[in-house]
Amino acid sequence: MILLTGATGFIGGRVLRALSEKNVHVKCLVRRPVHSDNPNISYVIGDVLDYDSLVRATEGVDTVYYFIHMMGSQPRGIQKRFDILDRLAITNMVKACRTNGVGRIIHLTGIRAQQEKLSTHLESRREVEEIIKNSGIDYTVFRASVIIGRGGAAFEILDAAVRKLPIIPVFNWENTKVQPIYIGDVIRYLVECIDKKETINKCYDIGCSQVFTYRELMQQYAKELGLKRVFLSIPGSWTRLSSVMLGKLAPVDQNVIYWLIESLHNNMVCEPNDLKIIFGFEPLSFRESIRKIVETG
Ligand SMILES: NC(=O)c1ccc[n+]([C@@H]2O[C@H](COP(=O)([O-])OP(=O)(O)OC[C@H]3O[C@@H](n4cnc5c(N)ncnc54)[C@H](OP(=O)(O)O)[C@@H]3O)[C@@H](O)[C@H]2O)c1
Repeated sequence: MILLTGATGFIGGRVLRALSEKNVHVKCLVRRPVHSDNPNISYVIGDVLDYDSLVRATEGVDTVYYFIHMMGSQPRGIQKRFDILDRLAITNMVKACRTNGVGRIIHLTGIRAQQEKLSTHLESRREVEEIIKNSGIDYTVFRASVIIGRGGAAFEILDAAVRKLPIIPVFNWENTKVQPIYIGDVIRYLVECIDKKETINKCYDIGCSQVFTYRELMQQYAKELGLKRVFLSIPGSWTRLSSVMLGKLAPVDQNVIYWLIESLHNNMVCEPNDLKIIFGFEPLSFRESIRKIVETG
């Protein structure tokens, strides 16, 4: 049986939909009750910060999808140290998995460049990945940068900035490089890898074939939307001010916006891999991804 975490989130929600089309039984770990009429979906109440609830949730499970981050929606007061919470959460999860003999953890995280000093967010993502890889449990890890899809935090920030600001201020991260990917392709990798034994104990960077600077990404997006935008380069990073401003424009938690903007200094470019041979497809281009999003609303 599969245990899906983050089922109410951007990635987990879509993985749930794709798995239920495959007619497999999925148990979802949720913090609040959810109703489903689908006999292949069940829900178990739990919290990754509560070890005992994870022991109950992982009973009879062979594969865990781990799609949790703690940058938003935690109780007030402990929110700022999301990195400590993320460490505790994954430590609880691997311990519970070992207790119940779970065979594999499938995880999605952020791309990172080897030699760079990482932002708090990306350093925390790296740590979670390392805990999974050192757990003694089989794993498959995918790493992505900006995922192009409605409801994705990074995409919603990009969308709000480009649609709502006729003059877009760009700061000292404007030339950082990024390799985006369409949400549908991310979900295909996550769902199809379950039947591909060659992906066990492997990590893959995933992205479309094009690399952009963040400035180019916004320019391309504005062009696709048919919007004329002026870009204004401003020295410095202005992270707090930008997150307050974007928090009013984008449907994203302001804490999440802050940590994502801080991460704009880190390049997110894929290392080469053999995914095309294993999965038999290549991710859509950025332009095709945007067209899909615009078509489907
Ligand atoms: N979105 C992107 O562009 C992107 C890019 C690269 C990598 N990723 C990775 O993808 C993974 C999932 O991200 P996402 O975008 O899907 O995030 P998301 O939409 O914010 O969803 C986070 C999920 O975690 C759950 N959660 C949070 N705290 C929890 C707790 N204490 N116990 C149980 N569940 C808890 C939330 O449940 P509630 O409903 O209870 O809050 C929610 O379902 C992360 O590892 C992230 O690093 C995302």
